[in-house]
Amino acid sequence: MQLISPSLLAADFAHLDREIDMINTSQADWLHLDVMDGVFVPNISFGFPVLEAVAKICTKPLDVHLMIVQPEKFIPQVRDLGAMMMNVHYEACPHLHRVVQQIHEAGMKAGVTLNPSTPVCMLRDIIQDVDMVLLMTVNPGFGGQKFIEHSTEKVHELKQLITQTGSHALIEVDGGVKADTGRRLADSGTDVLVAGSYVFGAENPHERILTLKNL
Ligand code: DX5
Ligand code: ZN
Repeated sequence: MQLISPSLLAADFAHLDREIDMINTSQADWLHLDVMDGVFVPNISFGFPVLEAVAKICTKPLDVHLMIVQPEKFIPQVRDLGAMMMNVHYEACPHLHRVVQQIHEAGMKAGVTLNPSTPVCMLRDIIQDVDMVLLMTVNPGFGGQKFIEHSTEKVHELKQLITQTGSHALIEVDGGVKADTGRRLADSGTDVLVAGSYVFGAENPHERILTLKNL
């Protein structure tokens, strides 16, 4: 059974209390929060004032995905949200090992995210230190994009690396996840599915969450 982390990016921001209530009463395991800076990715989403408001009312563990340069600057602020997981991009961290250590010292789980063009082998020397690898299955920055098919091969490859090294890292995927792509990702060894538009764009989001969970 997959863990499901719906992405708030696709929610109706004019009715965030209603959307969070939907998440709280659903079978979702986590809530995925996408922070963008307009520099690392060509878009801006929401920042800490919004995250703080969400954290106050959300009862699910927070899975924070920082698509920003120098994410280490914000470790204390993410910790103060009470976040369970802090995901930083491999491409944004020249001193990734130090950042992972700092996230752990702050009491959070550490996730490392790979853009579609970054190969899994780049994680060889960090895989035993991380709690999760987040594979982008679209180019980060926008919701509702088309799933990149090569991603299932990357999941296989990552699963192999995790098994070979005895790492405990979970595999999370993000972008273009729907029932069909979700099933292929699950079959390839994915542990956590992030889904934005597939969940929040639906008439019955609870049903969609269950569909993904039971793939
Ligand atoms: C994209 C974000 C995703 C996004 C996924 O940069 O990281 O979490 O919300 O959206 P969908 O599921 O609509 O592709
Ligand atoms: Zn994301």
